Amino acid sequence: MNNEIDKIKEEIKVFNPKTLYDLKKFKNKFLSKKKGIIKFLFCKLKKIDINKKKILGKEINYLKKEVKKKILENNNLLIENKLENKQNLNFDFTEPGEKLENGSLHPISIIIDRIIDILENIGFNTYENSNEIEDDWHNFTALNIPINHPSREMHDTFFLRKNPDILLRTHTSSMQIRYMKNNKPPFKILSIGKVYRNETISHNSNYIFHQAEGFYINKQVSFLDLKEVIFFIINSLLKRNIKIRFRSSYFPFTEPSAEVDIYHNNKWIEIMGCGMIDPIVLKNVGINENKYSGYAFGLGIERLASIIYNIKDIRIYLDNDIRFLEQFKSEF
Ligand code: DAH
Repeated sequence: MNNEIDKIKEEIKVFNPKTLYDLKKFKNKFLSKKKGIIKFLFCKLKKIDINKKKILGKEINYLKKEVKKKILENNNLLIENKLENKQNLNFDFTEPGEKLENGSLHPISIIIDRIIDILENIGFNTYENSNEIEDDWHNFTALNIPINHPSREMHDTFFLRKNPDILLRTHTSSMQIRYMKNNKPPFKILSIGKVYRNETISHNSNYIFHQAEGFYINKQVSFLDLKEVIFFIINSLLKRNIKIRFRSSYFPFTEPSAEVDIYHNNKWIEIMGCGMIDPIVLKNVGINENKYSGYAFGLGIERLASIIYNIKDIRIYLDNDIRFLEQFKSEF
């Protein structure tokens, strides 16, 4: 074994790599954890008697150190050389390269980014924890929609498991619960994401779409605050003085509740639901309902995008058709 070690010592000493690749091969040859020479020598050592073992062990450790030293020295040197060679190359790095086609954002992403911009400007914080798989409590019960409540019928739910119910969230209102149960008011939150409904697919409904959920909890929040923020969002998004109507409605988690319509192409189109958060919901998440009040709203992004871009068939957002997507390049 002594002979063998001497030979390896010599090999390490004379090794003079020309490229980083040579160095990598050298490193593998000696230090590879599975098949490296050093590992192989240590294995051999196991069978040798105790007195020789000590001396040879020291020798092998010395070899290991030498290999590492060699790698370190040459690594720096080779990297420096490589840079120098590049500088000596006879070519102009400032010359324009081949033109690359620009991609574009999906129209839904464009609208989402705009909503985030608008709402962050008036103090909303974005809550990114987008649980698309929900349990019954967050999606329904805590939002004051107990089992057998008729409004569950309106949420055609995709169940992943029954009992305990695990489902694909039918609305982003579940994010109100997720945030409120873990945070102390006051807060102003925006949460955006995908929601799922087992609906018949048509030009104006799909099984998957996006919602933006906003909510604000503080002392003495009023319906006037809610109206103000909704006018602001719609006017900022549509960039023109569009007619807006609040229509009284019903949601189990808000009291009073309203739906917001805008006047487009000679008809009223519903784009969001909203209201003052029901004290029962605050109680469910451990917020003192006598001290705090709040508003919430849920906005359908596809609906809004269709108005902004004049799109007649909602299915196109999921078609992945390059001819459609390319039309949004100028917005990028
Ligand atoms: N979650 C409701 C839906 O999907 C929309 C909604 C209504 C959200 C009222 C809200 C709200 O935050 O206050 O139909």
